[in-house]
Amino acid sequence: MCGIVAYYGPDEAYDFLIKGLQRLEYRGYDSAGIALLNGDLRVYKNKGKVAELEATAKGKNLSGNRGIGHTRWATHGEPNTVNAHPHLSQSGDIALIHNGIIENYATLKKVLIERGHEFKSDTDTEVLTHLIEEIKDKENVDLLEAVRLALNEVVGAYAIVILSKNDPNTLIAARKGSPLVVGISEQAGEFFLASDATPIVEYTKTVTYINDNEIVAIQDGEMTVKTIDNEAISPFIQELKISLDALEKGGYEHFMLKEIFEQPKSIYDSMRGRFDPQNLNFAMQSLTEYASKIKNLDRIIIVACGTSWHAGLVGEYLIEEFGRIPVEVEYASEFRYRNPIITEDDLVIAISQSGETADTLAALEMAKEKGATIYGICNVVGSSIPRMTHAGAYTHAGPEIGVASTKAFTAQVSVLTLLALGIADIRGKIARERLREVFAELDTIPQKVEELLQSCNEKCKEIAAAYVDAPNCLYLGRGYNFPVALEGALKLKEISYIHAEGYPAAEMKHGPIALIDENMPVVVIATKRNYYEKVLSNIQEVKARKGKIIAVVTEGDEKVSEIADHYIEIPDTEDCLTPLLATIPLQLLSYYIAVMRGCNVDQPRNLAKSVTVE
Ligand code: M6R
Repeated sequence: MCGIVAYYGPDEAYDFLIKGLQRLEYRGYDSAGIALLNGDLRVYKNKGKVAELEATAKGKNLSGNRGIGHTRWATHGEPNTVNAHPHLSQSGDIALIHNGIIENYATLKKVLIERGHEFKSDTDTEVLTHLIEEIKDKENVDLLEAVRLALNEVVGAYAIVILSKNDPNTLIAARKGSPLVVGISEQAGEFFLASDATPIVEYTKTVTYINDNEIVAIQDGEMTVKTIDNEAISPFIQELKISLDALEKGGYEHFMLKEIFEQPKSIYDSMRGRFDPQNLNFAMQSLTEYASKIKNLDRIIIVACGTSWHAGLVGEYLIEEFGRIPVEVEYASEFRYRNPIITEDDLVIAISQSGETADTLAALEMAKEKGATIYGICNVVGSSIPRMTHAGAYTHAGPEIGVASTKAFTAQVSVLTLLALGIADIRGKIARERLREVFAELDTIPQKVEELLQSCNEKCKEIAAAYVDAPNCLYLGRGYNFPVALEGALKLKEISYIHAEGYPAAEMKHGPIALIDENMPVVVIATKRNYYEKVLSNIQEVKARKGKIIAVVTEGDEKVSEIADHYIEIPDTEDCLTPLLATIPLQLLSYYIAVMRGCNVDQPRNLAKSVTVE
């Protein structure tokens, strides 16, 4: 993980670096640091957040029109000030920031120590600064060549940016496996670098995304790109589509709440222009292009992590129901390491909000090597997964800043719904009348989400107040509501630190029922069209053991609402579209419980938004 920013230009770097680090803080917030170059090379860093870095820097010399900044999610070495980036070389003349992991750092470090190098931190990153400096001095090459040669000795993943006191008109950056984007200003000789485009958009919309194994050199105000094998590259320059407003809290107390309330729009945007409910048409280019492949598919494998994996489970139910193709949903991290059977006839779908999750990327790389067609469902435009897939569909949910995924999930499920229907249509597995019904209902979902947000917000707050001190919580659902239960439990545990588990409702009697007593809240999704009577029996089983029931029910429900301790009504919809609605109150419930417990909902402890380490 980690966020990196850098500035090279005629102006002072400090403000851009601090603002940029604040925007990237979702990537890690264990420590933060900057280096500024203006004749001398000054490093300010500390444990904790960017706000603490600002306090550290206050009153110090902050001049410099070259600068680099870093916000860390610790991998090697505890999150303290010494291990915070930037790291300096042996002489202190080279400063470097890094996002990723240098896997062979221990071997390199041992050799460097034998040659007299002294290290201050426990990080893998510091090794790289020493290595670059040693190569520069020994081989008598310039900074760019020293970086290139050093990277040829490195095994692992990185996005790095380097400043050198002795090369004040040079800034070098490189990427392998961790994201890096360069913003090109209208002002000649001004460049902004960052892990993603959010720090840059305020300054310029013209960017280039750096590819794996490429090195960027900004020298004397000009940018060049080459590979680590020394081949010159013409960078692909593009215009950013994100707006600044999307990156602000817009009056909400937290990004998470803003993003929950954005769902009517994000769901709408994820489907906009992709289906025509009147004429029963699809406008998904990726489906049209791969129609013959889809017709002959034997199997689909979905790989993802966390919330995206839950969306994948909903996708499995959708594709099997409509497309009638067997679907396997795999944790990306496990899939890669169990020698799975993949053939050229497989379609492997990766789902990822960030498009940068290392486990998902690695799983995809393996599937691609084995000849499968790979398809991405991602939110962040230009991120690594969409750049390596054969085809895909962006979710268009807009920037998601809160670490807990909310609008990204519902947008993923919307896209998966269209994909499942599209596959069914291509394979002739869905009658026109049924397609018309599902399309018509899908079309109403953004409006229903809007109404639901208005109707359930206060109720969720009230229920949250009753369970703010609960040590545990169970979530139960059946069919399409089982992944919703998993997602509800993940949301609660990650932001409130309450232990929570999601289970298929019927599975409760095979073990978890032992946990139920008068102190156990059980959230049950008991909607009308999803095995209602069976779920009702499961609720009776909980009640018989004095468990507390918080039920999500369909509007007008009489039976469950009668026996539940609390209930939240959602609008009626098709069985297959229930996840798009039932998820909403669970997000709000987790949010309010976490806020009432005084937790940092946007930046929960130990987590980061983009998990770019395996
Ligand atoms: O960016 P991705 O969708 O690939 O991220 C996958 C998970 O790391 C992510 O969904 C994580 O579980 C969230 N914190 C959940 O809210």
